[in-house]
Amino acid sequence: MKIKHLIAAGMLLAAAPVLAKDHKVDLTFDAGNTGPVIDKDIYGQFAEHLGRGIYEGVWVGEDSDIPNTRGFRNDVLNALRDIEVPLVRWPGGCFADEYHWREGIGPRDERPVKVNTHWGGVEEPNTFGTHEFFEFVELLGADAYVNGNLGSGSVQEMAEWLEYMTGEKGSTLAQERRKNGREEPFEIAYFGIGNEAWGCGGNMRPEYYSDLYRQYATFLKAPEGNMPKLVASGGHSEDTTWTDVLSKNIEQKIDGISYHYYTLPNSDWDNKGRAINFSETDWFNTMDRTYKIDDYIEANLKVLEKNDPEGDIKFYVDEWGTWYDPEPERDPGFLYQQNTLRDAVVAAVNFNIFHKYAERVTMTNIAQMVNVLQAMILTDKEKMVLTPTYHTYGMYKVFQDATSIPFKLKTPDYKNGDKRVPAVTASVARGTDGKLYLALVNMDPKNGADIDLDIDGVKAKRAEGQILTAEAMDARNTFDAPATLEPKAFSADLDELRIPAKSVVVVELK
Ligand code: AHR
Repeated sequence: MKIKHLIAAGMLLAAAPVLAKDHKVDLTFDAGNTGPVIDKDIYGQFAEHLGRGIYEGVWVGEDSDIPNTRGFRNDVLNALRDIEVPLVRWPGGCFADEYHWREGIGPRDERPVKVNTHWGGVEEPNTFGTHEFFEFVELLGADAYVNGNLGSGSVQEMAEWLEYMTGEKGSTLAQERRKNGREEPFEIAYFGIGNEAWGCGGNMRPEYYSDLYRQYATFLKAPEGNMPKLVASGGHSEDTTWTDVLSKNIEQKIDGISYHYYTLPNSDWDNKGRAINFSETDWFNTMDRTYKIDDYIEANLKVLEKNDPEGDIKFYVDEWGTWYDPEPERDPGFLYQQNTLRDAVVAAVNFNIFHKYAERVTMTNIAQMVNVLQAMILTDKEKMVLTPTYHTYGMYKVFQDATSIPFKLKTPDYKNGDKRVPAVTASVARGTDGKLYLALVNMDPKNGADIDLDIDGVKAKRAEGQILTAEAMDARNTFDAPATLEPKAFSADLDELRIPAKSVVVVELK
């Protein structure tokens, strides 16, 4: 295979000198080996009461001119169904620690109007509440991740919310849910006890938060078979202290510790970098920043391996994605940003890292689903556009619940000055359909990569699937040109497998 491959590359070299700088990448695996299952919840999404994330993005109300199903816009529902969203986290984020669930139940026109003090100071009509959230996830066929209010709520408020949602018997709270239109209990996959307790969730220290967690978790009760996984709110970025303190101090039920990491091209909250019209250095810095999550996850998992060698406590990256400067004409409190090929590559790089740690990293939520940060979907009133990140989710859906296959990857670096990241990252897995899948991402925006595959355990000759790439680094879809960047068919003989610069490729090996 190798000789044939080199001959093929040599022939191409003579014909097209531009390939002279192609990276030479070696990928080796035995298809008979198996690693951990890649939990489908790694492909979870986050929908917060922020900007036009919920209102307009998801919920337009039954009387809207925008086609909708009981108030949920049909175009968004259909698009999200197509990428098989497994899990949705709601209502925040920082909003979660200001949210009082009672204000979002009962007749919509009687619900109190509040001010969303965290995000833009806009009116929060509470028309999207507990029942609407569950209806939304049920329409999507997704599971629910509800985030409780620890920062400004009480133990009683949180415990009663859980009872309201899950109560089976004739308790007053379960009856109230029935009166509000829902006979059967809601099913909750995950329940978060606060959010970013180190910051907007209360500016706490981990010792204090872990004591509060112990107290709150004691009173969170649900009928057998419907107790959600409990999520302790952990640290962020390079920090490992929160993971350490929480995993040592919490003796109550704890299924996982959350962790947040945002990719800011300039690593500076006052000058994050632009979403479009950026330079190659900005592209490099974005790749460099996003790739750091590999080290940060590894460092946190080392702590967990020490404090929880049995592996009972999972590591949930329940907020991640790119965060750019707001566009000048937009409300800065709405966190609306464009999404380009760069974001698609960032998403794929992160997926490949999450797959690597699939033993403990069993759930993540990209921030956020619609109109906020690294969104899947952007809307403008009745218009909707699917972003490059959306397409990466679509291409990678074959990895949901797939069984990972360990592999060795030898790749040159993509360099900028004295900084470097690997040019290529990958994933290999056996899908739930029994097929063998390979994902490749090339972070280098100028040079392609020749992939020399050395596979045991299966006779595969062809790679067939999809590719996402473009000429411009900031290629994007707009309301006027919504199909500028979409996945295209990709096929190659395995002994001539080459991926272009700045590309995401997902193929079946057959
Ligand atoms: O996703 C936006 C915000 O980022 C969330 O509300 C908060 O948890 C994080 O700081």
